[in-house]
Amino acid sequence: VQADPAGLAAFIHEVPDFPSPGIAYKDITPLLADAGALARAVEGMAAQVGEAGIEVDRVVGIESRGFILGVPLALRLGCGFVPVRKPGKLPREVRFEEYALEYGTDRLEVHVDGVVAGHRVLVVDDVIATGGTAAATGRLVTGLGGEVAAFAFLLELSGLGGRDQIAEHPVVSLLTY
Ligand code: PRP
Ligand code: MG
Repeated sequence: VQADPAGLAAFIHEVPDFPSPGIAYKDITPLLADAGALARAVEGMAAQVGEAGIEVDRVVGIESRGFILGVPLALRLGCGFVPVRKPGKLPREVRFEEYALEYGTDRLEVHVDGVVAGHRVLVVDDVIATGGTAAATGRLVTGLGGEVAAFAFLLELSGLGGRDQIAEHPVVSLLTY
């Protein structure tokens, strides 16, 4: 980990070979379970957004771990929260985007009224790895006329080039591995 002023890395447990061989899974559940670490994570993400001068009308969180951090961040920033969900979960009219997985494709959906034209949207997720999930969410936002004000992540796995997938927008991350 490159810099860790809030002392959060100790609460992120690396699990080898999960969910498949060769993957080093970053388990954030110990961080979520600790009141102080959880508060420092949300405060730290909010501070990065504020210090970068990023103004936000709505937070979009990506199912499912992006919901956990996106809602407290929205409360902290004083704006509403919009879920981007896996297929078939949202009951009203949606817009969808597909993204590549290691094998095949997956899809993310958002209610068409979740993003208002001209709104500045902060896209929140726990981790950026390859960037496919974040890039698809960015396309959902811009496709509905929203402006991606920034992407905010708790963790960035910098070796996988995820930032390159969303290079046209500001990116903040609290911990870089
Ligand atoms: C994980 C993580 C990010 C995404 C990052 O989610 O929470 O959303 O993968 O990967 P990428 O940058 O390569 O696209 P996952 O799909 O495992 O689902 P979950 O959040 O429901 O656990
Ligand atoms: Mg996820």
